Amino acid sequence: MKNLTKTLLALAAILLFSCGSGSEKKETSSTLSSRDQVRLKQYQVQGAKVYTTYCANCHQQDGKGLASLYPPLAGSDYLMEDMARAACIIKNGQSKEIVVNGVTYNSMMPGNPITNLEVAEVLTFIANAWGNEGGLIGVKDVDKWLEECEEGY
Ligand code: HEC
Repeated sequence: MKNLTKTLLALAAILLFSCGSGSEKKETSSTLSSRDQVRLKQYQVQGAKVYTTYCANCHQQDGKGLASLYPPLAGSDYLMEDMARAACIIKNGQSKEIVVNGVTYNSMMPGNPITNLEVAEVLTFIANAWGNEGGLIGVKDVDKWLEECEEGY
């Protein structure tokens, strides 16, 4: 009986251990803690809603933008090279000449009446949608970035 209990305990331990390491291996952003993994998923879900309400009109639901008027977010080198700048553009809008994936755009994006948390959520959404791989953009970073937006954003 004692032996059986020991065997069962050992089995349970093996099962727990293998499940744990198995699920970790599946995650692509393995540097994130499990709490941040959950937050990443939550931000993506909430961010998708913000995107549909505030962004899809121009950048389109598939993130590909519209002709020479609205630049793409899907695969955008301009977006992925500077998340702080992207947060400022999302909050405050932007109107100047920019080059996205080799194409020059010079039109006007208005600012958005959304909270810093919503900026973090929608930024996390677009940074991880359509093949983009930007990971979790936390609201604390967004708070800091938005205080330091450059003139002209
Ligand atoms: C009225 C149309 C419009 C809406 C709505 C809009 N944008 Fe834009 N967006 C633009 C235009 C136009 C530019 C280019 C501005 C420029 O030339 O400086 C731009 C630029 C950008 C850029 C940088 C360029 C790039 O392609 O990487 C990002 C990131 C971005 N928008 C994200 C968003 C997000 C997220 C939302 C929703 C919260 C949003 N935009 C809503 C029109 C819009």
